[in-house]
Amino acid sequence: MSDNRSMLSRAYDATWGRMFAAIYDRMLAASEEAGLRERRGRLLAEASGRTLELGAGTGVNVEHYPGAVTELILTEPFEPMAKHLRERVAASGREARVVVAPAEHLPVEDASIDTVTVTLVLCTVDDLAGTLAEVDRVLKPGGRLLFMEHVRSPDDERLARKQDRLERPWRFVGHGCRPNRDTVAAIEASPLELRELERGRTPKAPEITKPLAQGVAVKAG
Ligand SMILES: C[S@@+](CC[C@H](N)C(=O)[O-])C[C@H]1O[C@@H](n2cnc3c(N)ncnc32)[C@H](O)[C@@H]1O
Repeated sequence: MSDNRSMLSRAYDATWGRMFAAIYDRMLAASEEAGLRERRGRLLAEASGRTLELGAGTGVNVEHYPGAVTELILTEPFEPMAKHLRERVAASGREARVVVAPAEHLPVEDASIDTVTVTLVLCTVDDLAGTLAEVDRVLKPGGRLLFMEHVRSPDDERLARKQDRLERPWRFVGHGCRPNRDTVAAIEASPLELRELERGRTPKAPEITKPLAQGVAVKAG
């Protein structure tokens, strides 16, 4: 039974997953133009020092890292996405290391990173609490997590119920994306300390992925 499931999951990755990676930038283009790119820029302007991104995808954030970033490590577990990421990095002329790894198991030493960044990924990781514990492990004391994620609606119960109802089909279409994750509550329950939080809306996106949360969480120290 579990062999069948992993065969199905490999077939899904090899077909729709690969296609999803190929069309990802086009799927997001309208949202990026309508304000998402500006949000990314504002968030990532705060990155500094040794910086590690989780689930870097096709590399849409690469252009936004400021000069204060002294070393950039871009992690991404899905090879078809990592391929686009390497191409984006090469074209940018920016020094960055691409590492194929999931957010739950980062191949870096404890307390070695100044800034972790994550955008539109915590909806997709298999183990959200494990990912946040891993972020806490790799950050130096006082190091920061900069995040921008779409989340379960905090204030519109009708929309929140719709996000719950559509979780399964959306997860299939969105290559693992859960539209109803309460990511802010998960950060609050993690070892990190939530310091800044801004709520917003993803422009030109399907209604169930519109509620956005952006902010900063800090490792105690
Ligand atoms: C919606 S895309 C976001 C890409 C990019 N971060 C952005 O802001 O556009 C989600 C990304 O998370 C990656 N991903 C899926 N599972 C992951 C995991 N366990 N750890 C880290 N990244 C993961 C996917 O391969 C994909 O690149």
